[in-house]
Amino acid sequence: MTAATVPKHSYPAILKDAARVAWQVEDLIGPHRPLDFTRPFLPEALVQAKAIPGLDAEAARLLNQIRSNSYLHLFGLVEEFILPLVVDHAKTLGCDDIAATQAYLGFATEESKHIRLFREFAAAFEAGFGHRCEVIGPPQAIADFVLSHSPLGVALVTLHIEWMTQRHFLESVRHQQDALDPQFCSLLKHHWQEEAQHARLDALMVGSMAQTMDARGIATAIDDYIAIIRYLYQGFKAQVQLDIASLERVTERTFSAPKRNEMQRIQERSYQNAFLIAGMTHPSFEQSVRALSATGYAQIAALTHEFLSDDDQ
Ligand SMILES: [Fe+2]
Ligand SMILES: [Fe+2]
Repeated sequence: MTAATVPKHSYPAILKDAARVAWQVEDLIGPHRPLDFTRPFLPEALVQAKAIPGLDAEAARLLNQIRSNSYLHLFGLVEEFILPLVVDHAKTLGCDDIAATQAYLGFATEESKHIRLFREFAAAFEAGFGHRCEVIGPPQAIADFVLSHSPLGVALVTLHIEWMTQRHFLESVRHQQDALDPQFCSLLKHHWQEEAQHARLDALMVGSMAQTMDARGIATAIDDYIAIIRYLYQGFKAQVQLDIASLERVTERTFSAPKRNEMQRIQERSYQNAFLIAGMTHPSFEQSVRALSATGYAQIAALTHEFLSDDDQ
């Protein structure tokens, strides 16, 4: 990675775009903006509730909403490790390139706002849904595990998440907005708008971190990225079990062991596609990884292949 591959001129342009997207948590959720529990909250492509054979329409909608609640919590918890990563990076910059410093501080401010946004939505969800839906955590323990890895490894996971968020909105949510709860749709849209700047900033952060690293340091970061992705996948598997238990509670039914296994399989695949494959295979993420290391790119492609092969079983 050379200095020429880190386009410094990007920071003023990113600041300009960030200034155009200005919203507050209170603009999106509150007493006068109730969630509509008669509608799904997320597009079917992200939850695959209707893909479960024999699940009636009401149960599929409830599972969609349970998945929406876990979406809030999962995004909230990943933001809890992204925030310190970005703050630490901003600390290294000083005031020479003040546009860069301002851009990363803005990135951190927006991520802390997003944590508050997800928490407010989760509270509104719990109040309106009427049933507590368990989620994995606690977020701090997951953040501590992730942050125990190299900063570049964590930055790669963050880059994956930023591009994955772009994909969720552009490929799944944007064309489904009329069918979904308007408030949840608004959350997804406003989050996407700010994450577009984060994705560009994170690509710059990955590039500038790598500038001072040798091949061994970059190889460690790729290994760290893969370790964190595998760890998150285990978390998603545990979340599927909690989601099924929530669905049983809400619908007051108990699924048979074969039915439960079938749901577990379909939902694990859904989490894997929505949260892992969507980021790992995003062309912009792949481009950043290729710029770091051809071997690292091959390792991540092999992990993608492994996940997709799991699907066939
Ligand atoms: Fe965010
Ligand atoms: Fe972000």
